[in-house]
Formats: sequence, structure tokens, C-alpha cells
Amino acid sequence: MTDILKDKIIGLGVTGSIACYKAIDLASKLTQSGAGIDVILTRGAREFVTALAFSAITHRSVSEDMFDPRSELSIDHVAIAERADLIVVAPATAHTIAKMANGLADDALTATVLATGAPILVAPAMDAHMFGNPATQENVRTLKRRGVTIVGPASGRLASGLVGKGRMVETAELMGWIRMILGQGGDLVGRKVVVSAGGTQEAIDPVRVVTNNSSGKMGYAIAEAARDRGGEAVVVAAPNALPDPVGVRVVNVNTALDMQKAVTDEIEDADVVIMAAAVSDWRPVTTADQKIKKGESTEWNLEFTKNPDIIAGLPSDKLVKVGFAAETEDLIANAQTKLVSKGLDLIAANDVTATDAGFATDTNRVMLFDREGGIEVMPLMSKYDVGHRILDRVKPMFKDGLKQDIAVGEDAAGGRD
Ligand SMILES: Cc1cc2nc3c(=O)[nH]c(=O)nc-3n(C[C@H](O)[C@H](O)[C@H](O)COP(=O)(O)O)c2cc1C
Repeated sequence: MTDILKDKIIGLGVTGSIACYKAIDLASKLTQSGAGIDVILTRGAREFVTALAFSAITHRSVSEDMFDPRSELSIDHVAIAERADLIVVAPATAHTIAKMANGLADDALTATVLATGAPILVAPAMDAHMFGNPATQENVRTLKRRGVTIVGPASGRLASGLVGKGRMVETAELMGWIRMILGQGGDLVGRKVVVSAGGTQEAIDPVRVVTNNSSGKMGYAIAEAARDRGGEAVVVAAPNALPDPVGVRVVNVNTALDMQKAVTDEIEDADVVIMAAAVSDWRPVTTADQKIKKGESTEWNLEFTKNPDIIAGLPSDKLVKVGFAAETEDLIANAQTKLVSKGLDLIAANDVTATDAGFATDTNRVMLFDREGGIEVMPLMSKYDVGHRILDRVKPMFKDGLKQDIAVGEDAAGGRD
């Protein structure tokens, strides 16, 4: 299983807003992820950006005027509508939204939108008053009612100088929505995937904690991969600086004990738990109510008590259990010992001293160990791809035959991979 965007065709409609510059970034990110992007510019968009900017990035021709005999659309005006897996209109002006809501088709973009059977995502961008106008609001409601996904607009500083609701959402958020929509009907439909992420914090006093360097990136990437295969993805997240991923439910916790409770609650109806969090092994025996003063002493001793081993304590009859072993030495031996002692089905081991893998990086180099003694050594890859590889291994391990049958059926129909 690779990135859901690979080899997908996305029709990207760009309309006459100053936010057009963000569409160039979006086209670039989508192209880098392996999708083929068919850009359609409205007349308004052509005042802000050129076809050349998009064709240089997408390496594909750009559609402008459907009546231009040099345009592919002059031969087959619904060509993009028919081949696209998804139509994205970003930025979407009030004008184009109004045309879409009324079923008009007087340019290449609106004709494509009207003719397509693919899902449609619209990212409005406009002055706050234009967005707040009852006409626009009614048009947005109409599109939603017809199944169009409306993303944003966000609040913030607008090109007009006003601060309000009208900004097009950022590329990263749109990428999440696009992946989620394309992943609907994937091979994890009907499956609940619970992932822990981040580094727990154990309070010493109201201002000090014991924690670790985990960024949360690995766990979040696994949850996003599960989302992109149609799964219900939940992250039990210890403190981290990452934005909540689109389409992933995030349960925020602080301490190991909080995490244990949240994970135990979430696994009730889950199919797999993947513990990618760095859970503190120890917590202070007591937490002071007030900030501890420096005082005169030159030494300070803290007494710790052991935290529970969360994954070892989870039932394994219906739940696939996947652990992570972040090691700085004896990686293989330590991972194999943890696999057995914690009753895991799979363990992903990584050397956190490597500079291109482990904590805080976007890439990881992981080895997977299973109960049959199998070892899969994976090359350096993005944490998102590692997430997919782990889920590939988890899929045949599901312990509930009925749900698996449903997922296999979806797989055959949906044609993932
Ligand atoms: C400088 C400038 C910025 C504009 N920005 C927006 C915008 O962000 N959102 C919007 O709905 N209209 C905006 N407009 C107005 C649209 O370009 C205009 O309504 C146009 O007819 C839209 O056509 P289109 O949707 O076919 O591209 C802007 C106009 C100008 C001159």
C-alpha cells in the first residue's frame, strides 16, 4: 500500500481570488505525492496566475477556455470530469460557488463540475462580507446538501486588510481532506485503529514535568495512514506540537495513567492498538501542590514509582497489539524480548540515536518482528509510509473474522493499492 494519491487524477479548479498563489503550492504537493493534476483556470484566475505556473509544476497541460480549439476540452468538454477521481475547487470564489449551486456551466470549470461523478471538494476564499452574505451562505448550504465537501474558509487576516472569516485553508489541511476523501472505501473500512502518540508528561510540581523527546509524528502518521484506507482512526495523544489531523479523532492526555485510561476506553470496540507513544516508565511518587523552591541545598532527590506497562495490560483475544521499541542499543534482542513479554502480535523497532530516523524526524528506519519469528527490515522511508507498512502487516492479523470479511469485500470492490 502506497500513498493514496499515487496515480490518482485530480481536477483542480482555480478561480479568481488572490488565494490563487496557494493553489500553486497545492498543485505542487499533490504532484509530489504521485497524483496527476488537471488544472482548470477560470477567466478570473487567469488575472492572478498563469497556466505556465501550473503546467511547469504538474507537467500536464492546463485547461482555460473550453472553446479554444487547442484545448483538450474543445474536443471532449467532459474529459476531465470523466477521468478525475476527485474535483477540487481551490480557491473557490463566491461567484463560482454561486454558479455551482445553480448548475451553470458557462466555462470549463463549471461544466466539469456539472458533468462529473467524482466527489467534489470546495475551498472558499473571499472577503468576510462576501462569505457572510446570505446569498453565499445559501449557496454553500445547497452544495453541502448535494454532497459537496466544503473546507473552510478559515478566520484570519484577509487580502482586503480586514480580519474575518474568508481565508482559504492551508495546503496541509487540504491535503488531509483530499487523502481522506480518496481513501473512503479503502481496505480498513469498518476497522477501528487506536494509536498512541507523543511523550507523556509526569508532573513534579505545577510548573515542572518529567518527559521525553517524542514528537508524536510517528503515531500521527500511522493514524493518517489508517484514515486514508477508510479506517476509523483515533489518536490518544500525549502533549505534542502537531496540528490535529483531518478526519482523525484526537484524545488529549498528559500522564501515563491518563493514557492508560483513554487507551483502555478506546480499545473497547477497536480492532488494533498501536502504541507509538513514548510513555514515561516512571512518575514522581508525589506531585507538589506548589512550585518547589530552589532553597539552599545543592542537591535535590526525586523519588519515582513505576508506571504501568499499558500495552502489556491490554487484552489480546480480540485486539491486535502492536508495540514500538525505541532503543539506543541491542535493538534486535530488546525488541524480541518485548514482543514476547508484552504479548504483542507485532513490534516495530527503531534506533532513536540515528539522525534521520526516530524522534522528531519525518522519516524512520524500522524493523518489524512478528510472533512467528519473522523479521522485516524496512529501508528509510517517511513515517506515513511506515504507517502503511505496519497496517499492511496488521490487516491479516485481525481477530474478528466477520469484520474482516466485510473489509475484504470492500477491498475487492474499491481496488486499493
Ligand atoms: C484583486 C481582486 C481580488 C479578488 N479576490 C476575490 C476573492 O478572494 N474571492 C472572491 O470570491 N472574489 C474575489 N474577487 C472577485 C472575483 O475575481 C470576481 O467575482 C470574478 O468574477 C470571479 O470569477 P471566477 O469565479 O470565474 O474566477 C477579486 C477581485 C479582485 C479584482
